[in-house]
Amino acid sequence: MQITPSILNADFARLGAEIARIPSADWIHVDVMDNHFVPNLTFGASMVEALARATETPLDAHLMIEDADRHAPAYVEAGCASVTFHVEAAKAPIRLAREIRAKGARASMALKPATPIEPYEDMLAELDMVLLMTVEPGFGGQRFLDLVLPKIRRTRTLLDSYGVQAWLQVDGGVSLETIGRCAEAGADVFVAGSAVYSADDPDAMVNALRDRAAEASSTA
Ligand code: DX5
Ligand code: ZN
Repeated sequence: MQITPSILNADFARLGAEIARIPSADWIHVDVMDNHFVPNLTFGASMVEALARATETPLDAHLMIEDADRHAPAYVEAGCASVTFHVEAAKAPIRLAREIRAKGARASMALKPATPIEPYEDMLAELDMVLLMTVEPGFGGQRFLDLVLPKIRRTRTLLDSYGVQAWLQVDGGVSLETIGRCAEAGADVFVAGSAVYSADDPDAMVNALRDRAAEASSTA
């Protein structure tokens, strides 16, 4: 069970210090948005490179950008240990996943809430992680979409039936209230933005989320 806090709702004027507040994080989730794939704009590869230099915690880049085939490799070069592209924005997802792996990062593919997993089941072995969005991408602080839970279960079943070791990540509206349902359904990596950065003690929240996920998955 891994927790990867999103810095989307952190104070952008002091990101280095914001990351230093969560030493228990397994990864730092960086949301790259281009104002085209999603109606919001954050930061690009040079900013991510600076963040990678500022922390020992590995970076988990979530690229919400058009033309992922062209731009994703730059995030491996920027120092991200995991790079996630959206299948809706990739022209050749298998080639792109192979390129990310060949450059030395974990390759991950994201699906928006209404995108089914089944068309991609034959390529799961090309991936180190599948990200199932549990909100429409673009903004932090949105309400968790329970309608994604059956897809989490189906994806877990597919990964197991193909014998694929890829992690299953959920992102959007993950909190102490919702993380148990995700873990029971088979997720094992959890992005949490507002839940972590709105907590009085963000690092304690990271540990509380991980404990809640572990508890729910052991009783599932
Ligand atoms: C949304 C981003 C998320 C976001 C999650 O498009 O991909 O990573 O930061 O924020 P919360 O946890 O507040 O939903
Ligand atoms: Zn994200």
